[in-house]
Amino acid sequence: MSRYFTEQNSEESVNARMAASTDPRLAEVMTCLVKHLHAFAKEIQLTQAEWDYGIDFLTKVGQISSDERQEFILLSDTLGFSMLVDAINNRRPPDATENTVLGPFHVANAPLRQMGENICLDGKGEACLFEGRVIDLHGNPIEGAHVDVWSDNADGFYDVQQPGIQPKWNNRGIFVTGKDGKYCFVGIKPVSYPIPDDGPVGQMLSHLGRHPYRPAHMHYIVTAPGYEKVVTHTFVGDDKYITSDTVFGVKKTLVAPFEKIEGGETDWHSPFDFVLTPISED
Ligand code: BEZ
Ligand code: FE
Repeated sequence: MSRYFTEQNSEESVNARMAASTDPRLAEVMTCLVKHLHAFAKEIQLTQAEWDYGIDFLTKVGQISSDERQEFILLSDTLGFSMLVDAINNRRPPDATENTVLGPFHVANAPLRQMGENICLDGKGEACLFEGRVIDLHGNPIEGAHVDVWSDNADGFYDVQQPGIQPKWNNRGIFVTGKDGKYCFVGIKPVSYPIPDDGPVGQMLSHLGRHPYRPAHMHYIVTAPGYEKVVTHTFVGDDKYITSDTVFGVKKTLVAPFEKIEGGETDWHSPFDFVLTPISED
């Protein structure tokens, strides 16, 4: 190889600079990244103007990001990268509940609620009874599981997007299962909503002719001692956006029944069991 950088030897030139002392995994990740990045520019014959645009785009993604807004995660989500990394890292047996994206609207330490309690505090929307069990792969109930749930309100916003408008902790709560593994609470039938699209990622979607919507869903984090944490959603199957989720988060197994109830205490009923896998030894 020439001692100087050329178009032909570009990848090798850069990767040859890796110090012998570099952490082995970092060396592996960076070598592969350089390989694919250089191959990308060569395949697409990237123009200078296009790369300048790319740098400007990434700069804007950084500039709009803050403690409250993470535009890089939105970028990763809308490119399907978050779901790919999640899939690689959460391979489970066929009957176990699948993972999906966490999203930016989870808030830690939501109030612990009594079984059956209503988490909808703003009085809006169609009431829905959510119930089911947290079980293991053999169908045995798991006691002491934490079911941490959050959803948007009937206007399509999370409480943290509307401080001072929605009550704090609206449509959120943590339920702890008893011996029977059952959980049960009242919320609303969630509605579809756009991800924050007033920044560079929203512009990217618009340039690509893509909508920014997510189909209606309930978010869950289900944890129990000795079991893998499940970060997931349940989805409303007849939602307009069910097959075009802008962050690619829908999985067939996560589409839950939403049954209309006539003359009941709630308008809807949505049963769903969470099936957890034991933490592996290795
Ligand atoms: C959400 O479902 O809350 C969400 C997920 C990814 C990006 C934006 C929002
Ligand atoms: Fe969401």
